[in-house]
Amino acid sequence: MALRSGALWLAISPSLLGPVCHAGPVQPRDDVPAGYVAAPYYPTPHGGWLPSWTASYEKARALVSQMTLAEKTNITGGVGIYMGPCVGNTGSALRLGFPQLCLQDSALGVASADNVTAFPAGITTGATFDKALMYARGAALGQEFRGKGANVYLGPAVGPLGRKPLGGRNWEGFGSDPVLQAVGARQTIKGVQEQGVIATIKHFIGNEQEMYRMYNPFQPGYSANIDDRTLHEIYLWPFAEGVHAGVGSVMTAYNAVNGSACSQNSYLINGILKDELGFQGFVMSDWLSHISGVDSTLAGLDMDMPGDTQVPLFGFSLWKYELTRSTLNGSVPLDRLNDMATRIVAAWYQFGQDKNIPPPNFSSNTRDRDGPLYPAALFSPSGQVNWFVNVQADHYKVARQVAQDAITLLKNSGSLLPLSTSRLLKIFGTDAAVNPDGPNACLNRACDKGTLGMGWGSGVADYPYFDDPITAIKKRASGVTFYNTDSFPSVPAPTADDVAIVFINSDAGENSFTVENNHGDRDSARLSAWHNGDELVKKAAEKYSNVVVVVHTVGPLILEPWIDLPSVKALLFAHLPGQEAGESLANILFGDVSPSGHLPYSITKAATDLPDSIANLKGFALGQVQDTYSEGLYIDYRYLNKMSIKPRFAFGHGLSYTTFNLSGAAISSVTPLSLIPPPRAAKGSTPAYSTAIPPAAEAYFPTGFNTIWRYLYSWLSPDDANSAYAIGAAGVKKYTYPVGYKTTQTAGPAAGGDQGGNAALWDVAFSISLTIRNSGTQFGGKAVAQAYLQYPAGIPYDTPIVQLRDFAKTDTLAPGESATVTLQLTRKDVSVWDVEAQNWVVPGVGGKRYTVWIGEASDKLFTACYTDTLTCESGLASPV
Ligand SMILES: *[C@@H]1O[C@H](CO)[C@@H](O)[C@H](O)[C@H]1NC(C)=O
Ligand SMILES: *[C@@H]1O[C@H](CO)[C@@H](O)[C@H](O)[C@H]1NC(C)=O
Ligand SMILES: *[C@@H]1O[C@H](CO)[C@@H](O)[C@H](O)[C@H]1NC(C)=O
Ligand SMILES: *[C@@H]1O[C@H](CO)[C@@H](O)[C@H](O)[C@H]1NC(C)=O
Ligand SMILES: *[C@@H]1O[C@H](CO)[C@@H](O)[C@H](O)[C@H]1NC(C)=O
Ligand SMILES: *[C@@H]1O[C@H](CO)[C@@H](O)[C@H](O)[C@H]1NC(C)=O
Repeated sequence: MALRSGALWLAISPSLLGPVCHAGPVQPRDDVPAGYVAAPYYPTPHGGWLPSWTASYEKARALVSQMTLAEKTNITGGVGIYMGPCVGNTGSALRLGFPQLCLQDSALGVASADNVTAFPAGITTGATFDKALMYARGAALGQEFRGKGANVYLGPAVGPLGRKPLGGRNWEGFGSDPVLQAVGARQTIKGVQEQGVIATIKHFIGNEQEMYRMYNPFQPGYSANIDDRTLHEIYLWPFAEGVHAGVGSVMTAYNAVNGSACSQNSYLINGILKDELGFQGFVMSDWLSHISGVDSTLAGLDMDMPGDTQVPLFGFSLWKYELTRSTLNGSVPLDRLNDMATRIVAAWYQFGQDKNIPPPNFSSNTRDRDGPLYPAALFSPSGQVNWFVNVQADHYKVARQVAQDAITLLKNSGSLLPLSTSRLLKIFGTDAAVNPDGPNACLNRACDKGTLGMGWGSGVADYPYFDDPITAIKKRASGVTFYNTDSFPSVPAPTADDVAIVFINSDAGENSFTVENNHGDRDSARLSAWHNGDELVKKAAEKYSNVVVVVHTVGPLILEPWIDLPSVKALLFAHLPGQEAGESLANILFGDVSPSGHLPYSITKAATDLPDSIANLKGFALGQVQDTYSEGLYIDYRYLNKMSIKPRFAFGHGLSYTTFNLSGAAISSVTPLSLIPPPRAAKGSTPAYSTAIPPAAEAYFPTGFNTIWRYLYSWLSPDDANSAYAIGAAGVKKYTYPVGYKTTQTAGPAAGGDQGGNAALWDVAFSISLTIRNSGTQFGGKAVAQAYLQYPAGIPYDTPIVQLRDFAKTDTLAPGESATVTLQLTRKDVSVWDVEAQNWVVPGVGGKRYTVWIGEASDKLFTACYTDTLTCESGLASPV
């Protein structure tokens, strides 16, 4: 979402508060490049046809069938921004026991709340390459959301996927690879939803830069122009995995795809998400991205958040009372409204929220005990809004473990690391110590001051405390001198024993805030360290012969100014550690544990090593900014490998204090494959309701009801309701439906059939086991095995040389100790999306040789297993 409270609605960009516009026009599509089409896809497939959701849909039907029109339109929309405790608050149907739902940011912790854990960000979690930890973090997050009374966790974020290194919100996701993102999302969703909290996978789809993302009354948001195969094999992949994991809700993106806004793109919502991926939950808009009333309904949107029009706080909505009107006047079929309400209620039952979920006991709007209940109303009753419920339990442990196991050792010349605690340490850089104004001093973390623990925007949480690196280092080592400055100070002549540790960082965030001239994206700082960090490293390297660089960063940086300097001996990427920045790092620096993180993106030597379409952001244009995915599948290492460009550090790279030996690889065929998946299962039945237009009286404001100013209600005045009903009853005046509009439910595409697509796509095709031995003598450590697939030669599809398909991390192995790990490839993993067949095709069917490369990084692949002979060999030259 875009806007956060704290300063309440004053935080809203003044440019938005100009003209009152509450009838968002459907924006022109004229500038979309030739060939990119937003095809119509109607109607919205009904939810409820999958066995795994049947029980919830039956309960939902029983409830929704008792709802009045105004109750149905109440629960599908928010009551207005800053009109309740959470960042999103739906209307209720209290008469039937259906409460307001609390939707809360962020993906890394309960936002705007006290006594919560500020977990490491998504990018940090991705860098662990540890499925169990990803799950454990999700479970802890779920417990905290539940403990605060939130129904819906607004995460995980997998869009952006990290296509553009400069993109502002990449750090909220797990890394620049669809499989890494997918696994991060799946494990998070499982962890969260097992606690009875609905997860929200977002932002669907193509939100790969921040600037120009949003529609406003004067300009449409940019259009991400994505071809069908690239969509399926890269950007949709993590969403499909999330739906397969049973995610309860999906949030659309601000931008358009192929010229049509994501919040009302029928092809994406009705077609891809609800039909092909068989999504059974509900689809919500991102905050204030709702730009049409009837059309977004027909396109498959189920929930409008936070309820207001693009320009909030005037008490206007395109839904709520307008949705009531458009149902009465016959423009929105009751069939669609019933499905919207049923999807929301079914998700509530699916995660057991009909039992024992207390209302929220915190407020996003204030940290005080008491405050206005409806802050946006200006005149509001007040009362207790914060109960200071401590939900942290011992979650600092999993937070610290993620922070620690994500730390990625990129260089360690002469084994400078780990350090003995008796070394004389000179620490440089303001990034080593907590923000002197306090860790939460900047609203939405929209500043870069002190240790960088998270980016900025809506994807943040308040720190309950901040364990900073300098405190943790001083706790361990006695000879520490800290120069809390980013300009190299004058220092005494170094002794041979001196080690300089230089802290630098790079920040990014959401476009709703500009930090040091970076508009969310890193458009100003680009890929250089902030605050002259490169200079600080170079100066330290001139003075000291042993320099360790620690980087807190949202994404890749260009390291060339200093990485090859002989005195820069060690480099650690600590990513965005959240509250547990200190001890997690000290444990690595002093060798309590070996580093075991791996890069969730490649670090190039120059920004121009990537093609312009992804190396650069899209700048201002008249009309709609066009962001065309001309590089297709070739992002990050897929592109670098194709062009034989050696990065400085490749995707998946990460060193340890010890060494590992991968041996004994064996591959087996598990499920035999056919060219395309077996026929999908037919859709099951879905709830049936009367589709007659309800009596106007179901929409009347209760007599004598005291309204709250600017609160969004679903009722109409009797006059308004009667005249809308008269239009609908006459059935003469017809709405101008979008081109291609239909109302007959269909059997659905062949590629569908279950959550995420055809169920057979998740059949395990090949399984590989191997032994990993700690071949060092001094240090324990955890190893990561990564499996990259190379498609058979001579197939009629262009494919990247290698693509990550699975990974596994060991527990700590003592020197000499071994573990066996298993890596799996599903049918989907060995398929390509065929745009003609509109299905996943196995191009190597019939015994063509796929090569599964196994190693510790995308460019260190020395073992290969073959799917034709079912043999493996090692000691090979890496394919890239
Ligand atoms: C965008 O246009 C391309 C090219 O026509 C097409 O392959 C793709 O399916 C379209 N995507 C969406 C989401 O409309
Ligand atoms: C809509 O929800 C609000 C907030 O809970 C509630 O005050 C109102 O009575 C609800 N309207 C209907 C029709 O139930
Ligand atoms: C807050 O919510 C939790 C459950 O999630 C509940 O146990 C607790 O009683 C609530 N506290 C207050 C003060 O409402
Ligand atoms: C019905 O109401 C909606 C919402 O106000 C409006 O957009 C639509 O044009 C109306 N339809 C008719 C036929 O008047
Ligand atoms: C956490 O809750 C306690 C009461 O249990 C309260 O005293 C304290 O101020 C809260 N912490 C924060 C950061 O608000
Ligand atoms: C790894 O272990 C295998 C089996 O024990 C051995 O044959 C091989 O030489 C080892 N390789 C390295 C690089 O240590």
